[in-house]
Amino acid sequence: MQLEDVQCVTVLGAGNMGHGIAEVAALAGYDVSLRDINEEFVQDGYDGIEWSLGKLVEKNRIGEAEADAALDRVETFVDLEESLADADVVIEVVPEKMAIKTDVYEEVVEFAPEEAVFVTNTSSLSITELSEVTDRPERFCGMHFFNPPVRMDLVEVISGEHTSEETLELIEGLAESMDKTPVRVRKDSPGFIVNRILVPLMNEAAWIVESGDATIEAVDSTTKFDMGLPMGSFELADQVGIDVGFHVLEYMHEVLGDAYRPCPLLAEKVEEGNLGKKTGSGFYDYEDGDGAQIP
Ligand code: 3HC
Repeated sequence: MQLEDVQCVTVLGAGNMGHGIAEVAALAGYDVSLRDINEEFVQDGYDGIEWSLGKLVEKNRIGEAEADAALDRVETFVDLEESLADADVVIEVVPEKMAIKTDVYEEVVEFAPEEAVFVTNTSSLSITELSEVTDRPERFCGMHFFNPPVRMDLVEVISGEHTSEETLELIEGLAESMDKTPVRVRKDSPGFIVNRILVPLMNEAAWIVESGDATIEAVDSTTKFDMGLPMGSFELADQVGIDVGFHVLEYMHEVLGDAYRPCPLLAEKVEEGNLGKKTGSGFYDYEDGDGAQIP
């Protein structure tokens, strides 16, 4: 498949990242089939796209006509077979658990067009292992976006052991066509590049607070203002989802060892269901819409 042949992108999973990626693809002019397992999830995803496009218009990043045209290109589905009917590229964005992803791929291979290319937005899991569940491991790679996808330029393009050079070039081209900057990750290792660096930063911040050495606000004000990062470590954890960071850490801990042991503070938030912005509360409260208050 050549980039010119790509017309329809199917995004599986309408959560935080899924709907953001669908929005990016629609803004780039692709027809988008957005699918999730029930009407509520898929409608929430669609509403998320509408909200985000509205914000982009409000901030003069795009015009109203562009936003309307992008929204028109998004079709929502619950039926997996229907969502895959026209797919040239399938972007899988389901929860960060190997068992869930492999179950999804087992179904996807039944219905996806033979020539479609598969990519996963996994944050850390093995591309090679996922590709081996499919009938096309050479046309399978990682395409890892960052949160929020519509505002973050970077996309990691990760090669599995079986991925062909043509597939990597196609997906790099696809990322560029979406106005993103692809960075190729040659080796399929846990967390790839960004999360291998960023998630331990969030974990270490949690350990500092857990051990009583500093407050959340003090840690965030140092990372944000003195280290010059766009968000404090805890703000960032709330932005990406504390559960997402936690699952990445659990996997890195299992594969890479004790240096990546998740801090109990993160586990507590996950158990309570306080996962960050998406649930209205995490390390900070968002219910009133003003988010983190950093001194
Ligand atoms: N769509 C549209 N607008 C959005 C949005 C979205 N998805 N998300 C936030 N906004 C809006 C906000 O609501 C806010 O609007 P408001 O002022 O009316 O409330 C506005 O954007 C803020 O934008 P600004 O340009 O004014 O603010 P910033 O310059 O602070 O930029 C940011 C915001 C781009 C999110 C910036 O804070 C940033 O870069 N943060 C770091 C994010 C990051 O590092 N992400 C990667 C995480 S790692 C990851 O995702 C990998 C995963 O696998 C774990």
